[in-house]
Amino acid sequence: MIVRGVGAGVVSLLILFAALSGSAILAADNEPRSGYEFMEAETRSLQDDDFLNPGFFLVEEGQELWQRPMGEAGLTCAGCHGAVEDSMQGVAARYPVFDDASGQLLNLELRIQSEIADRMQAEPPAYDSPELLSLTALISLQSRGMEMQPEIRPEMLPFLEQGEGIYRQRRGQLNLSCVQCHDEHAGDRLRGDVISEGHINAFPIYRLMWSEPGSRHRMFEWCMEAVRAEPFERGSAEFVALELYLASRGSGLKIEAPGVRR
Ligand code: HEC
Ligand code: HEC
Repeated sequence: MIVRGVGAGVVSLLILFAALSGSAILAADNEPRSGYEFMEAETRSLQDDDFLNPGFFLVEEGQELWQRPMGEAGLTCAGCHGAVEDSMQGVAARYPVFDDASGQLLNLELRIQSEIADRMQAEPPAYDSPELLSLTALISLQSRGMEMQPEIRPEMLPFLEQGEGIYRQRRGQLNLSCVQCHDEHAGDRLRGDVISEGHINAFPIYRLMWSEPGSRHRMFEWCMEAVRAEPFERGSAEFVALELYLASRGSGLKIEAPGVRR
């Protein structure tokens, strides 16, 4: 449903690209700029006010889940971790991380799912479920204002390379890569739409266009569908590698979670 509307928008974007013929290529300074800087004043003020920011419903729900007994043993996050404000401070800013046990990357969502499945022996909430978004938003809020700064260990280099490859790969019927929109056409304007640099420092976001919140992987999926490509699965190794690359590409940006986007 949504995808069809998106496709039409993208086709007109492409026509605009042709008309601009490269006139709006980004300035050569490499300082990353948050999507916030590309937003209208109204959307910014929604994000800036914790009482108006619709993402704060997630945080409230997350607070409740943090205390909720789960699994046979009735364990709670709080029971092991104490106050989320202390134990989770700065955690989201350094994800995704390398998990020694599995030899794979874990982003925050996968880590939370494994806490629930492995430590609490309960059914983990699905990707982009209200429960998982809420816990992710609550934990991410504890890094708000801190710099996104994944620690790239040597074992992570192949994943970083894989993520960059996905970012640069042209794909879909429109044969476009992430680079073409988010590096070469960042700042280009088309009716109310401004293409940002495609950073991930505000997630989970409340997206006005969706009338609901979503994860980083949901956004990647939306962008891939916009170029009529088959997206990877949310939570897949490919999307986590892409996420690692984007975290590194946007290193130094301040965490804005829970963000608001158009
Ligand atoms: C046809 C152009 C286009 C392509 C190609 C594209 N995107 Fe996007 N993307 C958009 C638009 C439009 C938005 C919404 C406005 C904005 O924030 O840029 C967006 C938003 C985003 C955001 C949210 C930014 C924020 O501040 O919240 C991320 C992250 C993102 N894209 C990642 C990607 C990735 C990864 C790829 C490649 C798989 C990709 N995009 C490919 C057009 C594109
Ligand atoms: C039985 C105790 C226990 C419970 C219950 C538990 N955790 Fe944990 N959790 C831990 C321990 C211990 C670690 C540290 C493991 C490590 O360092 O490898 C951890 C690590 C984490 C991390 C990674 C922190 C980091 O610095 O990377 C997150 C995020 C997390 N837990 C979230 C949660 C959430 C959310 C819940 C509830 C849904 C939860 N945990 C429930 C014991 C628990």
